[in-house]
Amino acid sequence: METTTPTNEASSAQPERKRGRLFAWFDRRAGLRALLHESLDEPIPGGARFAYVFGSGLLFIFLSQVITGVFLALYYVPSADHAHTTVAYITKEVLAGSFLRSIHAYGSSAMIVVLLLHLAQTFLYGSYKGRRELLWISGCTLFALIIGMAFTGYLLPWDMKAYFATAVGTNIASEIPLVGDWLKRMMRGGAEMGTLALSRFYVAHVFLIPAAIFALVAAHVYLFRRAGAAGPISEDPINPKQNPERFYPRQVLMDLGFSLLLIAALGFLSYFVPMELGPKADPADTQFLPRPEWYYIPVFQWLKYWPGGRAIIGILVIPLIVIALFIGLPFIDRRLERRPWKRPVAGGAFALVFLSLVALGALSYRDDHGDPGLVKQLAKQREETEQFMRAPFEPELMGASPAAAPADPLVTEGKALFEAQSCSACHGEGGEGTAAGSKLIGVGAKMSPEQLAGLLRNPTDKMKDGGMTPLTIKDEEIRAIVAYLNSLK
Ligand code: HEC
Repeated sequence: METTTPTNEASSAQPERKRGRLFAWFDRRAGLRALLHESLDEPIPGGARFAYVFGSGLLFIFLSQVITGVFLALYYVPSADHAHTTVAYITKEVLAGSFLRSIHAYGSSAMIVVLLLHLAQTFLYGSYKGRRELLWISGCTLFALIIGMAFTGYLLPWDMKAYFATAVGTNIASEIPLVGDWLKRMMRGGAEMGTLALSRFYVAHVFLIPAAIFALVAAHVYLFRRAGAAGPISEDPINPKQNPERFYPRQVLMDLGFSLLLIAALGFLSYFVPMELGPKADPADTQFLPRPEWYYIPVFQWLKYWPGGRAIIGILVIPLIVIALFIGLPFIDRRLERRPWKRPVAGGAFALVFLSLVALGALSYRDDHGDPGLVKQLAKQREETEQFMRAPFEPELMGASPAAAPADPLVTEGKALFEAQSCSACHGEGGEGTAAGSKLIGVGAKMSPEQLAGLLRNPTDKMKDGGMTPLTIKDEEIRAIVAYLNSLK
């Protein structure tokens, strides 16, 4: 007994001391302690709250988008010829492909929702006040980048709605005076939408915009940490007076809880209502009615009210004013008052924008459901999408010329065996025949595959006289040679 107790103690103390030493080793080299302190001990005036979880939620969805996006990129080919087939392959054939694609596609909607919640929270709490102008502007830029991600990602599946919605989107840009046409050509890589457009959207979606997002997230978090958490609406945004609570553990747990909720909701939706893919884009279709994603619908509806000569007011003047007011908010609203009920202008503007968006959405719904012609066409499109989803995956039909036809692997193997078994010594390269052996081109038309296989196992006397020996290779190999002989036409 007395000898075992110390050993037990030693074995339980050992890993702990080791862990401490490992930590110390890293700490000395990487400054772990300072890093943890920096990231976890941030004081939050007034304490942790659920209202503050949206920023972390956005970061979390962004990471989920990066990870699922990398998996999608393993299969995706950004060309007008192949994009749709590769997305169909992901959706119908790849293990969990449809689930991953759905997480990514619904993730973009979740991103917009949480972005709007984050925006509403910072706006209503007046968290942009007190020397937080740069923080606000970096947030506005991130907003624009995320909208850009949604826009560029939407085209990539290259189905009917992706194609026509993006055609409409790029056409709207061309209405901007002076630079509009140039902008449209820039986005499309020409006058028409084809592989060049797809390639530009792809590069923007996977390289350019994500790189900018990474940089701006870093700037946003840095500026946030520098300014400090603004705390509740009763707090002074410059010199906080309320009792602070550290970021870890309670706020971290709340943020994690929200992220778990998000991923659970995305997983649930993706599993039970997988994202659909419509039929391949057919630019010649003149009937198709493109409908944008839900978050673009208010904008889409808005543009309907500005036809012809007035278009410039609707698509340029008013949006520019709104954007300028939005970005300039912390410069315009300089009071330190944060309680929403003491900020009637800000509160009123918020309510006005919110109600206008909802009203525009409702008007768009009414437009689409009031006209029987539209209802019929939209129902037809719905049906075509469902039909496409039910159909099994169809690999691409290659060009009609036999030269472009993909080599059947069995034929390729047969050709190799034909040479390895020195059939070509007597029958010539490609079976065109020599003095020592007959021409084999077209032999498949004379005999069935079974007969051919039988001949190779047991050549006729005439063949034996000519020097041909019975083949003693595996059945699969015989089958490959027969497939090759059949391909000789
Ligand atoms: C030493 C020369 C020689 C070699 C090697 C040889 N063959 Fe032959 N093969 C012949 C001769 C000779 C005939 C009989 C031609 C005739 O009927 O006019 C023949 C006949 C055939 C026929 C029947 C053609 C017909 O139209 O009836 C097939 C099929 C065939 N060979 C396939 C092969 C394959 C496959 C190999 C390789 C595993 C092979 N041969 C190797 C000499 C050869």
